[in-house]
Amino acid sequence: MTSNQSSSGFAHEMDARDSLAPIRNEFYFPKINGNDALYFCGNSLGLQPKTVESALLQELEDWKNWGVEGHFNAKNPWFPYHKMLTASLARTVGAIGTEIVCMNTLTVNLHLLMISFYRPTRNRYKIIMEAGAFPSDQYAMESQVRFHGFEPDDAIVEIAPRKGEYTLRTEDILDAINNHKDSISLVMFSGVQYFTGQRFDMKQITSAAHEAGGWGNDEATRFEMKKGFRPARGAEGWQISNAQVFQMAALRSSLSIFDQVELSDMYSKRDKLTGYLKSLLDGIISDFPNLPIKIITPETPSERGCQLSLLVENQGRELYHYLVENSAIVDWREPNVIRIAPVPLYNSFEDVYKLTTIIRTYFSTQFLD
Ligand SMILES: Cc1ncc(COP(=O)(O)O)c(C=O)c1O
Repeated sequence: MTSNQSSSGFAHEMDARDSLAPIRNEFYFPKINGNDALYFCGNSLGLQPKTVESALLQELEDWKNWGVEGHFNAKNPWFPYHKMLTASLARTVGAIGTEIVCMNTLTVNLHLLMISFYRPTRNRYKIIMEAGAFPSDQYAMESQVRFHGFEPDDAIVEIAPRKGEYTLRTEDILDAINNHKDSISLVMFSGVQYFTGQRFDMKQITSAAHEAGGWGNDEATRFEMKKGFRPARGAEGWQISNAQVFQMAALRSSLSIFDQVELSDMYSKRDKLTGYLKSLLDGIISDFPNLPIKIITPETPSERGCQLSLLVENQGRELYHYLVENSAIVDWREPNVIRIAPVPLYNSFEDVYKLTTIIRTYFSTQFLD
């Protein structure tokens, strides 16, 4: 950190130069004590885009005026509603349109994917996954394994960080896939580990899984299903139920904001903003060397998203509550982690500066006591 970075002037200068700064005005910030909260929880629930309310009211109006005929006559007909989200979703995740269908919730979709792709046999039945995955992901794996008559302790191989480390080494993931290559049925990884903020190297993990004889079709033909399982059109073959119009209306409002920005600008701001947060936190850590805090998210920008996980021994909860009392909304994870997500679409450098000033004040007070 340069001394320049630790001044509020630096944050203002960065905000003044940020081409994405005006996008912040498209969102509502919760108010705390009459002021906009310092909101760092977009990795959990993002802020409400200002257009969501009118989008939902439109659907209520169409329901009121059309009843069931809204399926075809609503302003945005409900029957093909999910298709209106496909192009924007494909752009944000880097997929082609036929690889996308918007439906359900994450865990329901995990189950549906495993019904298609977890086809264990007597010899190939293991699932390789990261240790400490989000609990509902773990429960979904356990349920699927039991459903097929296997025991989770035997069938689920969890890869944990090495002793004294917090994140996984890609080489350890690849070794585990290779070591179990004759018994693997599925390799299952989140894109970004929710607790540590580690972004996994999906390309390498996917090709190692393919080599081990996992789901072997290449990207271009990913959804050309094997004989016996032939969805009509790409990912839409998984669609079940009518489109969930109210959730999708809110999601459409959000995606329309993503559509306004160049993704490369968003990623560049993500790296700058997260890097700025890291340098200010590093400054606190070096100014108070005995503090029991540590950033457990990988240092390399390509190995993280817009999240830093701060491990705080003993006083994590107290710090978390202190932040909330001082109008900062961050995310507490048992037993000792505060997740801080500076979101490039609506967080500013000034937000980051103010948040770290509160953290510094908290530790200064502790230090004086
Ligand atoms: C990392 C992660 N995985 C899974 C879930 C569960 O998602 P859903 O409720 O859509 O099944 C959540 C939701 O909080 C999550 O944050």
